[in-house]
Amino acid sequence: MKRQIIIANWKCNPIAAKEAKELFDSVKEKAKRFKEAEIIICPPFIYLSSLKADKSIKLGAQNCFWEDKGAYTGEVSALMVKDLKTEYVISGHSERRKYFNETDGIVNKKLKAILNAGLIPVFCIGETQEERYNNQTEDILKKQISLGLEGISANKFPLLIIAYEPIWAIGTGNPCDAKEAQKMRLFIKDVLEKNYNSNTAEETMILYGGSVNSENSSLYIKQAGFNGLLVGGASLNAEEFIKIIKQAL
Ligand code: PGA
Repeated sequence: MKRQIIIANWKCNPIAAKEAKELFDSVKEKAKRFKEAEIIICPPFIYLSSLKADKSIKLGAQNCFWEDKGAYTGEVSALMVKDLKTEYVISGHSERRKYFNETDGIVNKKLKAILNAGLIPVFCIGETQEERYNNQTEDILKKQISLGLEGISANKFPLLIIAYEPIWAIGTGNPCDAKEAQKMRLFIKDVLEKNYNSNTAEETMILYGGSVNSENSSLYIKQAGFNGLLVGGASLNAEEFIKIIKQAL
């Protein structure tokens, strides 16, 4: 069976460290039986040092800054995140693009910093409702991929994950139809083949994200052919998150 990557994006949750530890430990305990899945938890930065990754569960950050260190008040660099035994970093998430004005250029700088630190970026792309309605989805994805990955060579790709997350499906309870999602997955492969080569397109792991739950998780893997899932809201409930994994494998 092909390896699956299931990522929990906790976003700005939970409020207390105790709660974070309980949720993490509960997932960790149950995750042991899923040998064929790579399970990654992305908590807020502040919890990274107190959560202990092991073979069954890995840690990811939800963001990082593009410089290694210096006078950048409030920022956390990829190297700092790496020092906390974190292996993955999300970049380009639509909430960062929307609330923190992260452009494709900023995402590109962050992706380079993550790769230079020897970490694995989870590069998020996706269209808004309006863009979809105006038939601009493919143009948007192409632009996000081309600008986000500008100057990143094909030999870095074994270390890169792309997450297709239609913005209108994130946190809305309105997931993308599996057939539609599959079309976009194939389109992303196509862009990678044109921008790089067929090997790169073949090897790149592509995940789906947007209102994933235990009832739809298997559709994206088994029908639409994604290599894994990026789960937001539903990952805050250990039982539901484990169910999502179980159904998807
Ligand atoms: P959701 O979020 O599962 O709550 O829709 C997904 C994401 O934002 O990564």
